[in-house]
Amino acid sequence: MTMLRAVISPLLTSASLEYFWGILMHIINDTSSLRILVLSARQAGQKIAFVPTMGNLHEGHLSLIDEAKKQADLIIASIFVNPMQFGANEDLDAYPRTFKADSEVLSQRGCNILFAPTVKEVYPNGMQAETKVDVPSLGKYHCGASREGHFIGVSTVVAKLFNMVQTDVAIFGQKDFQQLAVIRKMTKDLCFPIEIIGVPTSREASGLARSSRNSYLNTEEKKSSVALFKVLCECKETLQKGGIDDISHLKSKALATLKEHGFTPDYFNFANPHTLEKSQISDTEIVILAAAYMGTTRLIDNITVSL
Ligand code: PAJ
Repeated sequence: MTMLRAVISPLLTSASLEYFWGILMHIINDTSSLRILVLSARQAGQKIAFVPTMGNLHEGHLSLIDEAKKQADLIIASIFVNPMQFGANEDLDAYPRTFKADSEVLSQRGCNILFAPTVKEVYPNGMQAETKVDVPSLGKYHCGASREGHFIGVSTVVAKLFNMVQTDVAIFGQKDFQQLAVIRKMTKDLCFPIEIIGVPTSREASGLARSSRNSYLNTEEKKSSVALFKVLCECKETLQKGGIDDISHLKSKALATLKEHGFTPDYFNFANPHTLEKSQISDTEIVILAAAYMGTTRLIDNITVSL
């Protein structure tokens, strides 16, 4: 750490720091070293943007880095597969870990610092003994109803990462619509001085939302999975045409179509995009949120509708 301070101290102008960040991407595992770099950037008047991830990066994640570059001078990404957000029967051990490839693409895309803390760094007292962050008003619906404790794990780790990184701006994907809503509320409720930015879902040419979990799909399953976004688009079109006074009919039709394409639906809900509560007939904005299993792979997607 003393060494890091010695290297950084003479660089305290924005121009020289920009040169330092540009030489190569810095991979940091401990919070104190990260804070020295962040503090140096802030003292030199630089704006900091942060993109938290669990790795196995694809074009969707990289679109968040592109947005971060538009927003700030120093771009920090994190890779941390957060055990607290996985349920007991979920795929924590099987979650794809591709650190080398991830760090290469991040560096090529212009990320300046990759923060890759260990589980011990994030949960020094063990997960059970740690303070937890809950946003019950938004976390209880949709994915929160099917994945008990999931959003407590997400809010807790994001709050911890915000404290570790001390960023000005944090970037998240709209693909995880409910996660973004939970994080926005948590940030406001806990008075983090951080601007939260949502980036539109990056999709394959077929319309399938990019996801680390797509790598679990075989060719046939991947083909069939396109139906998820198609059904969401069809529902949007029907709603926008007007004359729908019974959303439950639309929902049953959507669930049936998903089943025809080989999905086992988990939920298909029409909600208010701000409260995430079941949408009312008077709502002029609706988000349709869906989760469905293709084989053993759970996919999620959503679409917003203005009426
Ligand atoms: P992860 O699934 O790795 O996603 C990291 C970020 O990438 C999230 O903000 C997610 O919404 C965004 N993202 C994923 N696929 C996307 C796509 N197709 N288009 C646009 N953005 C996309 O989400 C998590 O990790 C974790 O819950 C985390 C927030 C890091 C907390 O552990």
